[in-house]
Amino acid sequence: MLRVTRKKFLSFSFFFVLLWFVYLKTEADQLFVECKGRIFEMGYGVAGLASPLYPNGCLSSTNNQNANGSCLEDPNYTVKLPIVDDVPGFKWRLVIAYDGTRYSGWQFQTSPPTIQCIVEKALIQGTKLERKDLHLVGASRTDTGVHAWGQVAHFVTPFNYDSLESIHAALNGLLPSDIRIREISPAVPEFHARFSAKSKVYHYKIYNDAVMDPFQRHYAHHSIYKLNTSVMREAAKHYIGKHDFSAFVNASRNDRVPDPVKTIFRFDVIEMGALLQLEVEGSGFLYRQVRNMVALLLQIGKEAIPPDIVPKILATRDRKELAKYALSAPPHGLCLVSIKYNEEHLRLPAGCPTTSFGRTHTVSKCKLPFY
Ligand SMILES: *[C@@H]1O[C@H](CO)[C@@H](O)[C@H](O)[C@H]1NC(C)=O
Ligand SMILES: *[C@@H]1O[C@H](CO)[C@@H](O)[C@H](O)[C@H]1NC(C)=O
Ligand SMILES: *[C@@H]1O[C@H](CO)[C@@H](O)[C@H](O)[C@H]1NC(C)=O
Ligand SMILES: *[C@@H]1O[C@H](CO)[C@@H](O)[C@H](O)[C@H]1NC(C)=O
Repeated sequence: MLRVTRKKFLSFSFFFVLLWFVYLKTEADQLFVECKGRIFEMGYGVAGLASPLYPNGCLSSTNNQNANGSCLEDPNYTVKLPIVDDVPGFKWRLVIAYDGTRYSGWQFQTSPPTIQCIVEKALIQGTKLERKDLHLVGASRTDTGVHAWGQVAHFVTPFNYDSLESIHAALNGLLPSDIRIREISPAVPEFHARFSAKSKVYHYKIYNDAVMDPFQRHYAHHSIYKLNTSVMREAAKHYIGKHDFSAFVNASRNDRVPDPVKTIFRFDVIEMGALLQLEVEGSGFLYRQVRNMVALLLQIGKEAIPPDIVPKILATRDRKELAKYALSAPPHGLCLVSIKYNEEHLRLPAGCPTTSFGRTHTVSKCKLPFY
């Protein structure tokens, strides 16, 4: 009788301990769960367009706004920067790395969680500010499943920091381990994560062997077709330069008639054993552009179509033309590696703390008893 009771007692305790474990999620997991139930409203400041955050799409550098709220042209800037005149205070630049595997992209996706939401939640907890006061803006709206090593974002606070190391450590403590803030630095008011960008570098990884490396499965696309890299290189050269990439864009819900003319500065095909890395740097990219360019290169690499198909498809400026040959390459091979900025906007403001790259800890050996 006693044995049975004890057995029952043990299994009950086990059950409750299990429940307790399920309940006691780390704060990081809690962020993930909260963001899962949330869809973001659209409308972050877009140059020249009215939005709830930046009511007047004017230039922040010269503050050249009329009494009636319309904007004056500043010939010295090629992109318009939204004004943040109602947001007094301090602007901060973040460099963020993430494994995009379990996220619905940076923002604006129909199925949460998004990385922006998770970073915002951590900022809300770390700064004790409200979401609407943080004005977090990311440079690139990476798609579902796409990774980043060098995503850049900015946010504002009404207060200054003496040092950025504590908030840096706090944010990484709050964030799930697949999202890391690599760097926090003060930013001048005219810095804008999206509009100050001069170029972006993306890498697309292809694992080109019969059997997939299981450690690469989240970060490289597996091609079982032997790819001819010399024809891929030849084809990639046709992307370089200033072109109308209308044939390589997929319609997106959020894009407000983007300019289809983009400049590709380089497109390298690099072999590292079975791993093939396509590295592309451009002035900017349209929705799905990189994955569509890669998809065509994959078909060319299989020798299904010749490399000179690239200029022909570009010339049509018709997305349906590309669809005859290739679909988008899968997202998990893609990584936003770095973003280059207008140097003038990267200068550090006066009276602000230095950039935090995180802190490493050192053991003071003389304090250890066995030394
Ligand atoms: C706004 O003011 C500018 C001059 O400051 C004027 O040229 C423009 O017509 C005004 N716009 C409206 C809508 O009143
Ligand atoms: C643009 O730059 C020129 C030369 O640097 C300067 O003289 C001029 O005032 C600037 N214009 C504005 C609107 O800032
Ligand atoms: C790749 O394609 C080029 C051009 O068609 C050809 O000369 C070369 O032999 C191919 N390389 C391989 C490894 O098949
Ligand atoms: C992208 O656009 C092409 C052509 O309109 C279409 O065939 C394809 O299904 C689209 N892909 C996605 C993922 O929307």
